[in-house]
Amino acid sequence: MKRVIIFGDISRKQKILHENDYHYFVKQLLLIPMSSENPASSNTVLTAPTATTPIHRPRRLRRTATLRRMVQETILSVDDLIYPMFVMEGEEQKIEITSMPGCYRYTLDLLLKEIAEVSRLGVGAVALFPVIPEAKKDDTGSESYNPEGLVQQTVKAIKEVVPDILVITDVALDPFTTHGHDGIVDENGVILNDPTVEVLVKMAVSQAAAGSDMVAPSDMMDGRVGAIRHALDAAGYIDVRILAYSAKYASAYYGPFRDALDSAPKFGDKKTYQMDAANSREAIKEVVLDIAEGADIVMVKPALAYLDIINKVKNYTNLPVAAYNVSGEYAMIKAAAQNGWIDEKKVILETLTSMKRAGADLILTYFAKEVALILAGRSSGGCFG
Ligand code: PBG
Repeated sequence: MKRVIIFGDISRKQKILHENDYHYFVKQLLLIPMSSENPASSNTVLTAPTATTPIHRPRRLRRTATLRRMVQETILSVDDLIYPMFVMEGEEQKIEITSMPGCYRYTLDLLLKEIAEVSRLGVGAVALFPVIPEAKKDDTGSESYNPEGLVQQTVKAIKEVVPDILVITDVALDPFTTHGHDGIVDENGVILNDPTVEVLVKMAVSQAAAGSDMVAPSDMMDGRVGAIRHALDAAGYIDVRILAYSAKYASAYYGPFRDALDSAPKFGDKKTYQMDAANSREAIKEVVLDIAEGADIVMVKPALAYLDIINKVKNYTNLPVAAYNVSGEYAMIKAAAQNGWIDEKKVILETLTSMKRAGADLILTYFAKEVALILAGRSSGGCFG
């Protein structure tokens, strides 16, 4: 039965239903589980209140800041944030990324200072991405598992200088390959899955050997989570966690990140391994596989244009769910703020809160330091770094 909703005026005493029915339906309205499958608005009833029935005033709970805080459903905390950072070779240098104002590529010495600072601000984890010089790139990304490579050295140094911060290392070939793809490419331009997984496994084990707390395969090859888990266990790294980029979409929002690493693919695109933006059920398929293969945390990426996917994944699994607030999402907010078109701090908080509300337990975000400062109540405003 399709029922009618009438928000009435008490004085008009529109008695469409008996008063008891009114109470019954209001009760039903409040009891109906709110979900996208069951939108309360499409089949619920609210008849005109009469002089003897209560009028429902949701605004009562919004009247003061204290009340609003008391009934707030989602609370963004610095504990939820993971700070992605770019490291490059050299000393005493930091170079701002043009398309990501306020974000830098740091040499190791300056990176360590920055990490010590964000750790003091309460940020619990960093995700490292290396800028690899062209001379060290090759077709197969072999620099990725060099025990003395940039990532490996960086992890060791962080563990010595800021031992408390959790270090997450990226497992993917694109920063290390001349062609910029996340996998090994054959002569026809096809990305080869299983040979790539072999390299990813070596890379993950070498990161664990350097002291990485968590490896994060962002490559989207099939079967890589299971292969990495087996190899880590076999090498004795049973406690190194896997943060799986499970539902990673082929997205134009990665543009600024590829500027940061000079890692844009030299030919073609990443659509044969990253997911189609139009797909939703497939995200669950990827999540199911990664969980079966041993992922500790599953991720959805990007975040903002994929809040429905975050929500779906959250409803599917009891594993923690991470969301990646990617470079393009960062750049859009920064650009609009620099033009004076939006209030930067408020938009950052609103955006990250929406990701948590959708179901993200953890958020990778270039705003991590800025948010830590805002939440600590001492933001200096503008750019950070
Ligand atoms: C590549 C990788 C990408 C990002 C993280 N790891 C880019 C890509 O897949 O091309 C994007 C992150 C961002 O845009 O902030 N393995």
